[in-house]
Parts: sequence; C-alpha cells; structure tokens
Amino acid sequence: MSEKKYDLVVIGSGPGGYVASIVAAQKGMKVASIEKRKTLGGTCLNVGCIPSKAMLHASEQYENSVKLNGNEEWGITCKDVSLDLTKLLKKKSGIVEELTKGIDFLYKKNKVSKYIGAAKLITSNTIEITNDNTKDIIHAENIIIATGSEAAHLPNINIDEKKIVTSTGALELKEVPKKMIVIGAGVIGLEMGTVWRRLGSEVEVIEYLPRILPGMDNEVAEKFMKILEKQGLNFKLGHAVESTKIVEDKVILSIRDVAKENIEEIEADVVLVAVGRKPNTNGLGLKDLKLDIDEQGFIKTNSNFQTSINNIYAIGDVIKGPMLAHKAEEDGVAAVEIINGEAGHVDYNLVPGIIYTAPEVAVIGKTEEELKEEGILFNKGVFPLSANSRAKAINHTDGMVKILSDKSTDKILGAHMIGHEAGTVIHELSIAMGFGASSEDVARICHGHPTVNEAIKEAALATYSKAIHF
Ligand code: NAI
Repeated sequence: MSEKKYDLVVIGSGPGGYVASIVAAQKGMKVASIEKRKTLGGTCLNVGCIPSKAMLHASEQYENSVKLNGNEEWGITCKDVSLDLTKLLKKKSGIVEELTKGIDFLYKKNKVSKYIGAAKLITSNTIEITNDNTKDIIHAENIIIATGSEAAHLPNINIDEKKIVTSTGALELKEVPKKMIVIGAGVIGLEMGTVWRRLGSEVEVIEYLPRILPGMDNEVAEKFMKILEKQGLNFKLGHAVESTKIVEDKVILSIRDVAKENIEEIEADVVLVAVGRKPNTNGLGLKDLKLDIDEQGFIKTNSNFQTSINNIYAIGDVIKGPMLAHKAEEDGVAAVEIINGEAGHVDYNLVPGIIYTAPEVAVIGKTEEELKEEGILFNKGVFPLSANSRAKAINHTDGMVKILSDKSTDKILGAHMIGHEAGTVIHELSIAMGFGASSEDVARICHGHPTVNEAIKEAALATYSKAIHF
C-alpha cells in the first residue's frame, strides 16, 4: 500500500475531470486522477458523446447510400448497399479505444498520476482507492469531485441493457430491432432513435410532455419535430410509460394518455429509456463527511465550485447546470484556476446545446419563451435554409436560423439553429455573443459565399432590417 501526497486529486476522468487534471498539472501542481472504469474519458468517451457520434455518422452514411440506391436524380447509383452491424460496432469501439488511450498519453505527457479504482473520501484530505486486488490511500491538499452522472431509471421498468436499455445498451445492440420504442423525447432519445431508424428500425418516441425537447425554444422544437417525422420517426406526445413486461421476446409497455387518463398497451422488440440523467455520488463517502447534497442528489457548491467543505470542489454533471461534456470542461478549467488563486469563471448563458442529428440543432443563449418570461423586449430575425444557396446546392434545405436581440441595444441574446452542421456553424454566434456583439455587428461582417453561415448573417440582418435573400 502506497501513501502518496498530492496538491490536487481529481475523482473521475470524464471531460470535466481529465481536463481539470491536465490543466492543474500544466500549472505546476502535483496531480492524481482516480477513475473506476478501466479506461479514461468517462461517459463521454466510453459510452456517450463519442460512440453515439460514430454511430450517427455511420448510420447517416448508410441511409444516404440506401437512398441513392435506384435514385437517378443526382445521376449516382449506389448498388447492393448492405449493413454489417458487427463491423460497425467494432469500428465504433476502435474509435473509443483510440481516444481513451489519447488521454493516457496526455496524462503521461503532463505527469498526471493515474489510479484505476473506486475512490472513497475517508477525511477531507484522505482518499481510499479500491481496485480488484489492491487498496491505496492517498492524501490531497485539494480535491475535485468530477464523478458525472448516470442514466435515470423509471419505477416499474427493469433495465437489462438487452431488451430494455439505457443509452449504454443502445450503443451495443447486436441486431437491428424491428420495432424500437424510445421513452423520452430529449437529446438522447432523438439521437439514438435516429441512429436505429436509419439502420432499419421502426422507431416510436413516447414523451410525457405535449412537446419534444423541453427547455428548448418552442418554435425550434416544433419545426424540428416535423423534420424528424418527415424522416420517419413517430411520436406519441402526452403519454407516460407506466410499466413494462417481457413476454417471450417482446417488451409490452403500458402507457397512459396524460390528458385522458386511459391506458393502452403497445409492444416493441427493444425499449430505450432516455428520461434524463442523475448525479453520480454513490460510494464516495460524502454522507459520512457531511458534505452538502441537494434533494435531487447534486453536490451543492458556491460560485467558486467549492462544496460545504472548503478544500473539496465539484464540477460537471455532479453539480447543477446543463449536463454537457463541454460545460464540465469549462467547470474543470475554472475550478483549477480558482484553486490556483486565479479568477476562474464560466458564462453558463454561453454554453451551446447541440443535437447531432441531420439536420443538427444548435442553440445558445435565451429562448423566446425565456425572454418573454423575463419581460425583456426583443427583436427576432428568422432565415430559412431553403433560401440559402449552399444549403440548396448540397440538398440540405431543412432548417432555419433564428436570432433574438435586445430591442433597445440590438445585443444578441439568443441564437437557435436547425441546419446542416449547425453545431459547428453556431460557434460564430457563440464568439459574437461572448464579445457582446449586436445583430448589426454580425450582419456587417463579410461572410464567405456560398456558406451555410450566410444564413446567420441574413437572420442577424432580419432582426433590425430586412433579409436580402428572403
Ligand atoms: P432529457 O432530460 O434531455 O429528456 C428526457 C425526456 O424524457 C424529457 O422530455 C421528459 O419529459 C421525458 N420523460 C420523463 N419521464 C417520462 C416518462 N415516464 N414517459 C415518457 N417520457 C418521459 O434526458 P436525456 O435525453 O436522457 O439526456 C440526458 C442528458 O444528457 C441531458 O442533459 C442531455 O443534454 C445530455 N446529452 C447531451 C447530448 C448532446 O449534447 N448532444 C447527447 C446526449 C445526452
């Protein structure tokens, strides 16, 4: 048993934890990173962002090839398209392996000490790490808890990760289900539902609320749902899944119409439960340390990421805020800066939200509903992608850009986009908003032609004047 001393110990090596570890080491701290998975990278790299994006990419290529099969419109014929799911999953796992090993490389390069095992806080400075056959005790001046989140479950639904799966099981299905039911029209449900629909499943999404993507701008959510329906995704809104049972090889779901209160039974080959995620604090010994946790299980922190125990900090999904990898990374950098005596800060209004379907959805800042609720007067500029020449040339005309700016100052307050590579394109607005730009600032910047970004210039123009091409 070793008993080493560190300036900083980071528990969890997802995007929040591994970035914090590297940045702290770059600042000259002696850092240890503890991870209970065999590989680094947390949910994002192992069973989240990266494998799902690999599957979204592959399934999009497959669907496009199938669509070209016998479609003479573009003069391209793509014959005998077939899917080898085993190979697709192997390729996805290979990408994950390369990226997780990449973090090992960065740890070595920056001299971050890696411990594989489950961490438990014994005191506010002492951590026990339990692996299969070893136990280590290490000491830390400061600790960052970055243990992330796990899929939320529903009562009366037993997840076996084969027939009834979370996003983790949905990345490993051994065959394409004939019928898949997705519970929850949030980001995971829509991304993974899209993957399996493209690969050949009939997909139905059951959502409790009367709309998809709660929290997102209404107009965007409505338009996006229409696009997904056109692509073949089916929705049953205003329905709650009450229970499931497995009969032979089918899953029978009992669903309740929230308005009419009547119950019906529907069946599927695979059910994906995507009803949110909950913070991961089990086994950390926080209760014994009397570290404050809120009623939903999130670790309570002040604006400096400090928990109720001074030298223990928490970042990412385990604290309040959007459960997003890039938000966790920003938290990690800011927390390390604060520990190092610098002025770390994250502007949560500028954390983009992206759905990696085709078209993609990308949002930043305030929604129209939020501005109305806050009584802020605004101008709105909307530009449809059907009027954007690049979108037309590449056959990606589904979508729009919507910009909301302050009525009196013209400062951009919110930007919402559905469109080809919207997740990349939106960043010109992130930067503009980060520097406090007005719509006119963006509209007067020369944009390359033909680009999808021109739709942003036009939407910005439309907030205070008139779009030129629509
Ligand atoms: P979510 O919170 O985005 O959506 C869950 C949905 O399930 C909600 O619409 C909710 O009303 C519905 N629901 C809850 N109980 C239900 C019931 N009994 N029956 C029917 N519907 C029910 O959660 P999701 O999609 O699981 O994602 C979890 C987190 O992971 C989110 O914070 C999300 O932002 C993040 N994430 C982000 C990604 C990205 O940035 N592209 C990708 C995947 C996840």
